[in-house]
Amino acid sequence: MSVKNNKKNKSYRSAPKSGGRSGARIKQSAKPQKPAEKSPKPVKKAAKPKKPQSGEASEYSQIIQWYPGHMTKTRRRMEKDIKLVDAVAEIIDARIPISSRNPDIARLTDGKPRIVLLNKCDMADPRATDRWVTYLTKENVRAIPVDCKSGRGVNRFVPVLTELLAPRIESYKAKGMANPSMRVMIVGIPNVGKSTFINRVAGKTKAVSADRPGVTRGNQWFTVSKGFEMLDTPGVLWPKFDDRTVGEHLAFTGAIKSDVMDTELLAIRLLELLCPLRPAEFIERYKLTDDELSLPGHELLSVIARRRGMLISGGEPDTERAAYALLDEFRDAKLGKITLENP
Ligand code: G4P
Repeated sequence: MSVKNNKKNKSYRSAPKSGGRSGARIKQSAKPQKPAEKSPKPVKKAAKPKKPQSGEASEYSQIIQWYPGHMTKTRRRMEKDIKLVDAVAEIIDARIPISSRNPDIARLTDGKPRIVLLNKCDMADPRATDRWVTYLTKENVRAIPVDCKSGRGVNRFVPVLTELLAPRIESYKAKGMANPSMRVMIVGIPNVGKSTFINRVAGKTKAVSADRPGVTRGNQWFTVSKGFEMLDTPGVLWPKFDDRTVGEHLAFTGAIKSDVMDTELLAIRLLELLCPLRPAEFIERYKLTDDELSLPGHELLSVIARRRGMLISGGEPDTERAAYALLDEFRDAKLGKITLENP
């Protein structure tokens, strides 16, 4: 099951513009243990808005803030490193192929051959993933669905890369290079699975050399297979989002940590989105009646909290705890394999 974006979202190359709340900014938090480039500076938390009444749940987008200050540095670094590679592998999240993609990638990658890896496909709707592969193929983009956690699909990477780079390899050979080594750079937003992919593909192979002229200090190159090297410092870019949907989808999937935004409002939004699409699963999982399923999101969250015995003193439902549980379950695909965006 998947959620359709509106017509404006059709373009794979641009972020969706559905009901965009211009100026709503995403306050982002990447993993704290990751390199500084991946973790934009924390910013002051926005004031918590009043709880939504029925139909107001989406107002939560106003509290999401995004400060793109680190972007210039990342962009410059990528522009520099891109000159040293022959191809780019862009990792996106198969559950949100539009929102997890930076629309600037094509320009930044300087026309280099590209492969798109639809990662986390173990948690995405397989039919939607097939539709995305078909769509991307029609757009002349080489797309491979992968599950880097189990390794499924990853072995297709080198054969597809070999095919993609065949003309380039031939041209190097024609210039007299006997065994040209092709270099690939991995790009993708934080938490999309770049490190997991690199570990899978590079395995235990040693870095070929720690630094190369013109390459940012600290970059390492790994031999992926004979004739292929991979830059192990992945380019990290965030999509631009002046759009509520992108922020929501990144937050639902855990790309943006929910502790920097109102978790209850986010969970309410998720309920409103998924209940109509997955009624049977919600009824079964949360022991809901048909009538309860059509309650406004904030009331439904209270019912779920009660049903699960999540109560605070005085017997009131602990909606915050229920919200965390719901989001965790979605992120762990316990609500099913769900793709939120269609081509
Ligand atoms: P990054 O370098 O792009 O920031 O992402 P990273 O590889 O660190 O992966 C982020 C999280 O996504 C990790 O989970 C990782 O295990 C998980 N992940 C990566 N690829 C896949 C996939 O194909 N399927 C699934 N289900 N998960 C994937 P984590 O909870 O942060 O860590 P851990 O569970 O590995 O300890």
